[in-house]
Amino acid sequence: MEKPLKHTPESVLVTGGAGFIGSNYLLRMVRKYPDVRFVNLDALTYAGNLANLHEIEEASNYRFVRGDISDSNLVDSLFEQFRFTTVVHFAAESHVDRSIEDPLAFVRTNVTGSTTLLDVARHHWVENGNASRMRFHHISTDEVFGSLGLDGRFSEDTPYAPRSPYAASKASSDHFARAYAETFGLPVIISNASNNFGPFQFPEKLIPLVISNALDLKPIPVYGRGENVRDWLYVEDHCAALDTILHFGSDLRTYLVGAGNEVPNLDLVRSLVDLVDRTLDRSEGTARKLIRFVKDRPGHDFRYALDVSRIQEELGWEPDHTLEDGLKKTVDWYLSNKGWLDSVRDDSYLHYYDRMYTDRLNSGGN
Ligand code: NAD
Ligand code: TYD
Repeated sequence: MEKPLKHTPESVLVTGGAGFIGSNYLLRMVRKYPDVRFVNLDALTYAGNLANLHEIEEASNYRFVRGDISDSNLVDSLFEQFRFTTVVHFAAESHVDRSIEDPLAFVRTNVTGSTTLLDVARHHWVENGNASRMRFHHISTDEVFGSLGLDGRFSEDTPYAPRSPYAASKASSDHFARAYAETFGLPVIISNASNNFGPFQFPEKLIPLVISNALDLKPIPVYGRGENVRDWLYVEDHCAALDTILHFGSDLRTYLVGAGNEVPNLDLVRSLVDLVDRTLDRSEGTARKLIRFVKDRPGHDFRYALDVSRIQEELGWEPDHTLEDGLKKTVDWYLSNKGWLDSVRDDSYLHYYDRMYTDRLNSGGN
């Protein structure tokens, strides 16, 4: 059965497009939809890396703007200039451990920043009476639902019960997004995905950290006893789901996105390090010796798992990668992009913006 098209993007504001998922999304969308304009607004925090977008930086339908989503004057002027039909909002502080160190940074970006975007969109769309052609896609996480025991799965109807400052800030932004839809008629759609992995993920998150340390023969920290369970989703499958949701999803609807790959952390880490050893032709068990059990994360959510029947049944989305395929592709990507990993580890990636800007000035561009 043909799915009815629900939204036609023409001019898209993508926030946080220099981060892990945002850059994978832009690499897909800018090339797939050459007639659609994409403006990437990113503050380039430590998590933003413009080198991720090297392949599309000269594309005629792509523009980068450095700026903060909390800067309402800037966001307003971008709406004026580019007449956005669509917002796809990725920008966030995204790491749970950092949210334990500095919760207020998460409130500033994830709560205040997200609500600033919603509010500017309301002024431009709802107050001008053209909201029905528009779409605000708010990207969120399954962590808003809290922690599961050994059984059960989250569904779109599970009540919110966030347990980390990161999850609480994302839950709050989801609530604001829904409130702007209910109160002002803003055309909001929300998707909550499980743990992503794949190319361009910052090596503070479990999978790239394990690959990076296994490569360099450094200790690999496993929190607690490694029994916590995550439901892993290959980032390209997530981006394909977001593409489908943007075009075919219904307003005011939430979609969970996951691939049903539930694995305890220790099993995942062992498979990953074995894969690194095999890929590098090292003797079996080399990297397993690097695994260290370390102090657990405070309030560590035990298990996440998603029931994704809504997106499968309503929108026909299915992941294309098994966990095994995704891990293999990810290990291969990190091993053949050592330069990317080195530039992140020695901080030189932070200068990519200045280099690009200076190069353009020197060559007479703007
Ligand atoms: P990331 O940390 O890799 O990237 C975040 C991006 O946002 C960076 O480019 C950063 O520079 C930018 N940013 C941060 N604060 C900003 C601000 N105030 N203004 C403008 N830009 C700012 O994050 P990610 O892993 O790509 O996650 C993207 C989104 O997806 C987030 O909203 C996250 O909550 C959600 N999500 C992530 C996962 C996951 O496993 N990574 C899973 C589900 C949902
Ligand atoms: P992470 O990648 O930080 O994602 P999230 O906390 O959003 O799920 O962590 C994934 C799992 O791996 C989580 O249970 C915490 C655990 N973990 C470790 O055991 N060691 C580490 O060094 C990290 C970063 C995470």
